[in-house]
Amino acid sequence: MTVFSVALFGAGRIGAVHARNIAEHAATRLKYVVDPAPAAAHALAARFGAQVAAEETVWADPEIHAVVIGSVTATHADLIEKGLKADKAIFCEKPIDLSMSRVDEVIEVVAASKHPLFLAFNRRFDSGILEMKQRIVAGEIGPLELVTVVSKDPDGGLPIDYLKTSGGIFRDMTIHDFDMARHIMGEDFVWVQATAAALCDPAIKEIGDIDTACVSMQTASGKIAVITNSRRASFGYDQRVEAHGARGLLRTENVPQHMLVAEREDGVRRAKPHFFFIERYAQSYANEWAHFVRVLKGEEQPSATGEDGRKALQLAEAAYRSLETGRRVAVSA
Ligand SMILES: NC(=O)c1ccc[n+]([C@@H]2O[C@H](COP(=O)([O-])OP(=O)(O)OC[C@H]3O[C@@H](n4cnc5c(N)ncnc54)[C@H](O)[C@@H]3O)[C@@H](O)[C@H]2O)c1
Repeated sequence: MTVFSVALFGAGRIGAVHARNIAEHAATRLKYVVDPAPAAAHALAARFGAQVAAEETVWADPEIHAVVIGSVTATHADLIEKGLKADKAIFCEKPIDLSMSRVDEVIEVVAASKHPLFLAFNRRFDSGILEMKQRIVAGEIGPLELVTVVSKDPDGGLPIDYLKTSGGIFRDMTIHDFDMARHIMGEDFVWVQATAAALCDPAIKEIGDIDTACVSMQTASGKIAVITNSRRASFGYDQRVEAHGARGLLRTENVPQHMLVAEREDGVRRAKPHFFFIERYAQSYANEWAHFVRVLKGEEQPSATGEDGRKALQLAEAAYRSLETGRRVAVSA
């Protein structure tokens, strides 16, 4: 069996998730960890038997088949381009970049390369979403009419230093939901209307961001999607998707921390949802890595590409324009 050697950029929160999945997959080996923060790089490399390396070592090593880019957002575009130039397949975290013109440049470089770019919209690989998509395609609920995505971060889930460089709620957080709405609907949106406020945390208001939002979108054929977001859910990570069609409804629910249900005179109680993305989406991250390995083997095409990343960012830009103008805006091509 071919074993693909992989280098990981970024030893932060998502880097640790990917390091585990790379190390645990029978067909991949984590060879290098690259991160300018030496303590984080050494700790993660040691956990999975990898070496800490400089960027140049990765590009120069012909044994490296693929790189995983899980570093801060501002590094993604450059690393994708350098990786493709160095003959590596690319797995990159969302978003590609915060600027549309930079995203367009990267997409051109990808188009000219023989190597794939998989953009890590991991929620496509959640078991409930995989099942939902399959059933929609099979026609179980007839033509879709309305898709609803509920996504709320847990209270205190993210440090303010992360939020400062995140690009704002629509480019950082809602970007997953824009992709999810497109993925489930199977059509592009042409209209966007957004309403938003900073209600949860004065620190978020101080950095000029918003933390509570509602975005509605419409396809050219008239179908509607609604996304509601908050940076604060007192009960944990709130992640639900609903697809409504002519013949019924499919819905994913929050995943509880454990399955015990207590039924008593004073009510019925079950555990709170998982605290955040690392626990809630553990299986989806492993599933997306297994998918990427099949892409490396030439068995599948990337489920989410640079173009999907671009379209999600387009919706984010349209949402900001809607906020500025107070109107429903057309999504620019
Ligand atoms: N798909 C998801 O569910 C998901 C979840 C969280 C984060 N993300 C994305 O992953 C990225 C990282 O987020 P995080 O939460 O892990 O952040 P983090 O702050 O925990 O970690 C980022 C790491 O990148 C390192 N870094 C900075 N410059 C680098 C460079 N040039 N090369 C290598 N490493 C470098 C930092 O030192 C830090 O250790 C962001 O783009 C974010 O949008 C995606």
